[in-house]
Amino acid sequence: MRVVIATDPGELARSAAAHIAGLILQSSGPRVTLGLAGGSTPRATYRELRAAQIDWSRVDLWLGDERWVAPDHEESNERMAREELLDHVPAVFHGIRWEKGRPPHAAAEEYARTLQRILGDHPDIVVLGMGDDGHTASLFPGTAALAETDADYVANHVPGRGWRLTATVPLLRRCRHTVFLVAGEAKADVLARVLGGDKLPSAVVAEAAGDVVWFVDEAAASRIETG
Ligand code: 6PG
Repeated sequence: MRVVIATDPGELARSAAAHIAGLILQSSGPRVTLGLAGGSTPRATYRELRAAQIDWSRVDLWLGDERWVAPDHEESNERMAREELLDHVPAVFHGIRWEKGRPPHAAAEEYARTLQRILGDHPDIVVLGMGDDGHTASLFPGTAALAETDADYVANHVPGRGWRLTATVPLLRRCRHTVFLVAGEAKADVLARVLGGDKLPSAVVAEAAGDVVWFVDEAAASRIETG
């Protein structure tokens, strides 16, 4: 596990985008898969990725998690990804099929089948964020999805946030490369806890995953024990 501390969110975005582009360039297969985080932190990194000199037509993009809302809803991770990246590069995006009234479990099961088809046994790269409670994707502390040991993608009811669909630890642990993006003073305490060994969801995923690189800014890193 490696931690890259950037001066500010702009440098974090540039460094993370360069790292992700490098992983795409070095991938040897005919296609490469990239899982996208939601939330707000990844926006700047996705904007930097637009200019990466890569053949986007060989890239399959998928969602590490999604809020159970219409894809044009302001809370939708797909909408954010479209605004910042999908509408700007010729990659192939595999979204979750949302329908009003559709049970989220059915959508999660269908998406797990879709991902099995495009990811195979080992997804190449996944980008993840982290909440100030240590959640990642939509694996929130104390929620059922965090305990899932079999399915790759599930519906998860999160108190106070409603239904989410999320990759599970079994799927995330199979990713060849994991890139965490964490910025801001509000994440400083939880980042220090996660890197210090507290078994919060982000730590559980990071410990289980392959090549893990944390891109953090100085504000988020301000409470990491160094030395
Ligand atoms: C989501 C994300 C989630 C996010 C964290 C951090 O759907 O919200 O996938 O895991 O990465 O909540 O969000 P911010 O980047 O907005 O702080």
